[in-house]
Amino acid sequence: MALLNITYRLPVSFVQEEDDILIKLSSGGLVSALHSLPGGDQQLKWLGVADFSVADWHKGQAKYEGEFELHPVFLHDKLNKLFYEGFSNSVLWPLFHYFPSFVEYTKDSFDAFIKANTIIADKAAQIIRSGDTVWIHDYHLMPLAAMLRQRCPGVRIGFFLHTPFPDYELLRLLPRHCARYLLEGLLGADIIGFQIYDYADHFLECVRRMLGLQQRQYRLLYQNRQVRVDAFPISIDFDKFHSAYDEPAVVQEREQLRALYPGMKVIFSVDRLDYSKGILNRLKGYRRFLELNPEWRERIVFILVLVPSRTAVKKYAERRRMIEEMVSSINGMAGNYRWTPVVFQFSSLDYNALLSLYTGCDVALISPLRDGMNLVAKEFVASRKDKHGVLLLSDLAGAAKEMSGALLFNPLDDEEVAACILQALEMPEAEQAQRLTTMQQQIRTNDVHHWAGSFIAALEAPAEQQTSWLEYEDRQALMQCYSTAERRLILLDYDGTLVPFHPEPQRAEPGAEVMELLAALARDPRNEVVVSSGRDRATLERWLGHLPITIAAEHGTYLRRRDQWHEIATGAETWLPEVQRIMQLYTERCGGTFIEEKAASLAWHYRTATGSNVWSEAQDLISVLQSYLENLDACVMSGNKVVEVKPASVNKGSVLHRMLPLRQYDCVLALGDDRTDEDMFAVVNTLESSYSIKVGKGSSRARYRFDTIGQVHSFLIQLSMAYSVQ
Ligand code: UDP
Ligand code: G6P
Repeated sequence: MALLNITYRLPVSFVQEEDDILIKLSSGGLVSALHSLPGGDQQLKWLGVADFSVADWHKGQAKYEGEFELHPVFLHDKLNKLFYEGFSNSVLWPLFHYFPSFVEYTKDSFDAFIKANTIIADKAAQIIRSGDTVWIHDYHLMPLAAMLRQRCPGVRIGFFLHTPFPDYELLRLLPRHCARYLLEGLLGADIIGFQIYDYADHFLECVRRMLGLQQRQYRLLYQNRQVRVDAFPISIDFDKFHSAYDEPAVVQEREQLRALYPGMKVIFSVDRLDYSKGILNRLKGYRRFLELNPEWRERIVFILVLVPSRTAVKKYAERRRMIEEMVSSINGMAGNYRWTPVVFQFSSLDYNALLSLYTGCDVALISPLRDGMNLVAKEFVASRKDKHGVLLLSDLAGAAKEMSGALLFNPLDDEEVAACILQALEMPEAEQAQRLTTMQQQIRTNDVHHWAGSFIAALEAPAEQQTSWLEYEDRQALMQCYSTAERRLILLDYDGTLVPFHPEPQRAEPGAEVMELLAALARDPRNEVVVSSGRDRATLERWLGHLPITIAAEHGTYLRRRDQWHEIATGAETWLPEVQRIMQLYTERCGGTFIEEKAASLAWHYRTATGSNVWSEAQDLISVLQSYLENLDACVMSGNKVVEVKPASVNKGSVLHRMLPLRQYDCVLALGDDRTDEDMFAVVNTLESSYSIKVGKGSSRARYRFDTIGQVHSFLIQLSMAYSVQ
């Protein structure tokens, strides 16, 4: 069994130098995290797009002595350019970092994105063996999970997004087919991990609005599989950065640095040169600080290191010019021949230089306008073994959720940035130490090993039960359970389970066969038959009232036992009129739709809608109703071509909770076809000697499935016969 890690970039590169081939190894956190995963004998494979030629690979391959089995994918330059610079970094990156005006969508780049992912999927499928685990990383590879699911159906697939995930209003800027394709791509995974819950929530909102999928407990049911969505904040190798403080090479370089700026306070920042990093905002804030605090001039220096990144993408080249202009403007305006306020470096730092700056500065100033996490912030904190230094961090970075000891600011607010710089410079040593201690404890516990370990543990956890056909052996077991039971509880949904849907709900009355079936089942004294429906009680009473059965109407708002109706949830009058008014607006907009009025709930039916856009209108209606109903005892349910509002405290699961204490049931059967029946299945699945059966297509929590209502009838006949042969 192997763990196959898939990223756009491989952790290794090969460079031809004169007659020799040099290997450049990445020392990123992901590499060490994968090494530290438990399950030592697991083979580690890594697949990614090669940034070297096939010839260099052939020459260098044998020299590579790392622990990963490497699988480079070679893409044609033109394809790779459209894939990486085009769709990945000129569409997804700006959109996901809330720069919609920077998005340059073209059909060609989207096609290249799909094509490159297809090539990667084909290559991965050749490597993957049954029982392997696949971990896909980041926005470049969003379609890959679905592609691999098709090619290797049984394999566990995890996806982790390192960037933010934008909210629905941003994602919908993409062409509809493209946005849906991206979401469906991710849904090929068993687990979709995000840096923080905000991004997971955005994703779930997009999935609901664009694909109509409802989540429950951060889980989605999709194509008969469960997809888990969760937050796994990425981190760093704490020990490596913490112990670096004392490494002789770092100590030496730090001393050299301090000697360059004797008696001065040093502010430091390092980022890839990227518009999402808020570098201009940082400079504006610093300029404002110098304006407001002239006494600090010549007593402070700002070392700004920018690492070249994606230089072939237009917006990056533009940004470089803007930053250089602002640096020289600040230096020209505020500086003098003795003092340079901003020391600017446009090249990467080696490890010792980076660590000497982290550990030698007084303030780290990190100001992204949007950042999935921001590892620089965590690295700076971890490296400060001396407990000196202040972290100034934008509250728009994912890391702000965890770095409680930082001074947080909004990077657009120059005044706030300036005030934070002053506060940092004047902060007493004891306070600095206390803030760093809190943050170091957090990172030490939640380091990159913890991150990778918890993601892989979640991915490799046993899959939850899937819905399967009620095959011969299961049916035998069910019949055995049923015929030996003394107290059986049989829960039946009405529409779509006992009777077919009718375009006019009031005309879906039960036929003679259904009535006979229910009567036959109810005749057995060991049976408690419950028809649990969303329908109003008057209709159910009219149709089924003469049978000796229990009836749950309006999803359990009303319960009839032994000819007596009980009102289980009250207070609907507070929201019914306004919900009706809102639904009426949508009824007027969408021809052929109508409202079904019940005593304590309202249902907007769109099965008979005439327009083509009604599904999207239904998602809109759900959002509006959800906002209106927040903090009220009412909830919106999306059913089979129906949007329904009902009291939140009741559902078909709560009906079951009411029934269970009444008798010690030793056999529980539940049949239903709709999303509302899922609440019932969720409870049934927790009981022993129980069978949950979904009727029809679609994903479900139920353990078993029937295709048609006809099969339900045959099954119920079989049950009632079991009685008659006793
Ligand atoms: N880094 C680097 N070369 C440098 C300076 C920094 O590789 O010259 C590393 C830094 O140590 C950190 C990463 O780049 O681990 C930046 O990660 P972050 O999450 O802050 O931003 P990203 O570049 O991923 O957007
Ligand atoms: C971000 C992305 C990574 C990417 C890194 C460097 O952290 O989430 O996937 O590798 O930036 O960007 P680059 O385009 O140079 O790979």
